[in-house]
Amino acid sequence: MNIPKFNDPFDCINNKLPWDVDTPDINLVQWFDSLTIKPVHVLELGCGSGVNSVWLAQQGCQVTAVDFHSSATETTRLYAQKHNVNIDIVQLDVLKDNLPNKKFDLIFDRGLFHGIRFQEKRLLSSKISQSLSQCGQWLSVIGSKETYADIQGQDWFMSLFEIADTVEASLQIISVKSCYIQMIDYKRFPAWTLLACNRPSALSSTG
Ligand SMILES: C[S@@+](CC[C@H](N)C(=O)[O-])C[C@H]1O[C@@H](n2cnc3c(N)ncnc32)[C@H](O)[C@@H]1O
Repeated sequence: MNIPKFNDPFDCINNKLPWDVDTPDINLVQWFDSLTIKPVHVLELGCGSGVNSVWLAQQGCQVTAVDFHSSATETTRLYAQKHNVNIDIVQLDVLKDNLPNKKFDLIFDRGLFHGIRFQEKRLLSSKISQSLSQCGQWLSVIGSKETYADIQGQDWFMSLFEIADTVEASLQIISVKSCYIQMIDYKRFPAWTLLACNRPSALSSTG
């Protein structure tokens, strides 16, 4: 299986990126639909073309979508406009910049966390911990290193050990389930769905 190479791998205007499907992530949809109490304030990290942010806004959530690439924030803006939903769209680097100064009931990412370096993962887990509301949860769809044997020697994607090691420094893992990421060129890509929250002992400091 070949992964296409682009000069700018996150430019979703000039490239048709392999993960850039036009339907919301099935793992997000199934999890969201299973909830009795739906999240109100939602942050999507690395929103790409904005499909998941728009879907969440259509479910009645107040969505903030962030991405460091102008092509992503612009595509999300146009996609939200097309679907007549309001989304707060912010261009920022989740590693270098502060996350929006707000508490979120859901922080969602699909394919951002798995693509950053090991130390950055710990940093981002800590930032996510600070940005979750009292009962807030982080749902992350993460490419699986263990099951994706065709890509050798790549440093993105994660093993279960790496997920535990980088997330549990700041957060409590509720569950990790094996799943798939829908891609445009390939049928399905083996992945994990991580659900995490703040530890009860940390809640008094997160508000
Ligand atoms: C694999 S793409 C997934 C896009 C979208 N979530 C989706 O599922 O289609 C990862 C996205 O994260 C963004 N991203 C990567 N690193 C980032 C960072 N440090 N800060 C903000 N956005 C970042 C990229 O620009 C890209 O849009």
